[in-house]
Amino acid sequence: MEFTLESPIDMHLHLREGAMMEHVTPMTSKDFAAAIIMPNLVPPVDSLERLLAYRKQIRNAKDGDVFDPLMMLFFRKYTKEELLAAKEHIFGIKLYPAGATTNSEAGVQALGEVEETFALMEELDIPLMIHGETHGFVMDREREFLASYEHLARKYPKLRITMEHITTRDAVELLDKYANLYATVTLHHLMITLNDVAGGLLQPHLFCKPIAKRPEDREALLQAALQAHPKLMFGSDSAPHPVSKKECCGCAAGLFTAPVCLPVLVELFEQHAALDKLQAFVSGNAQRIHGYTPPAKTVTLRKTGMTVPERYGEVVPYRGGETLAWAVAEIS
Ligand code: DOR
Ligand code: ZN
Repeated sequence: MEFTLESPIDMHLHLREGAMMEHVTPMTSKDFAAAIIMPNLVPPVDSLERLLAYRKQIRNAKDGDVFDPLMMLFFRKYTKEELLAAKEHIFGIKLYPAGATTNSEAGVQALGEVEETFALMEELDIPLMIHGETHGFVMDREREFLASYEHLARKYPKLRITMEHITTRDAVELLDKYANLYATVTLHHLMITLNDVAGGLLQPHLFCKPIAKRPEDREALLQAALQAHPKLMFGSDSAPHPVSKKECCGCAAGLFTAPVCLPVLVELFEQHAALDKLQAFVSGNAQRIHGYTPPAKTVTLRKTGMTVPERYGEVVPYRGGETLAWAVAEIS
């Protein structure tokens, strides 16, 4: 049995820098035609100069693959001149509330202090991507942030806003309330709940931000993905950390899913008799929402089985050691 995807796009990816970037980039650039590269480096990617240098490193690391790295600036106050200069080189700007997640210390302290930049982004048609969590109780952080999404969506009706890696039923429901509000969802939030993370022995390799939520939240996300909800896009949030930073006291947040995204997605959509929706979920919706055409790349998966390595160097992948039903068989 065979299944073919045209130009899959990962709308949310962490590649890091240096040796880690060189190690993980080919795992995405092999299977995907394009990916949004998140800018939460140390220091963050918050200048055009740094962004262009980072893009060059990624292009060198992609091993000749047909792959378009879609670059993001790290949100700070930007002047109109800076935004005009950056516009043709960036896909959008990623906003992190300060301290919300990995390497976000330089993020925004208060949304109310940076409204000028939102207005400029709206004027220049630069998309805004947001890590939407407050500093409240961990299970409530996303839900508490939804009011901020609503505020921005109302105040800047022409600004394209993406709620990144949504994890709750409430966020899914918000999608239908504002024309300019979109979302990405990860593979892992379609698969796991908090029980998988902390219901038995603690599973550091399933710990991420936002944390996986309740079964009814996962169900709402899954139903939206299986229908290829027109405002929902696949974004893996694959976020590699070395094993020493995961299996320790003070475990870093992030799942490394890059090598298994497509096989697991195909298995999931097949199980739910929704394979006809997968193309829209992993590419079509993003193309339509952002008016973006990825490079041509045909990815064929076959039901030959694939045993996922326990480790890729220093990184432990999602489903490591398990055998998956599908494998990427051909890329052209
Ligand atoms: O789990 C996460 N890891 N969530 C994020 O928002 C950031 C990411 C990372 O960069 O490690
Ligand atoms: Zn992320």
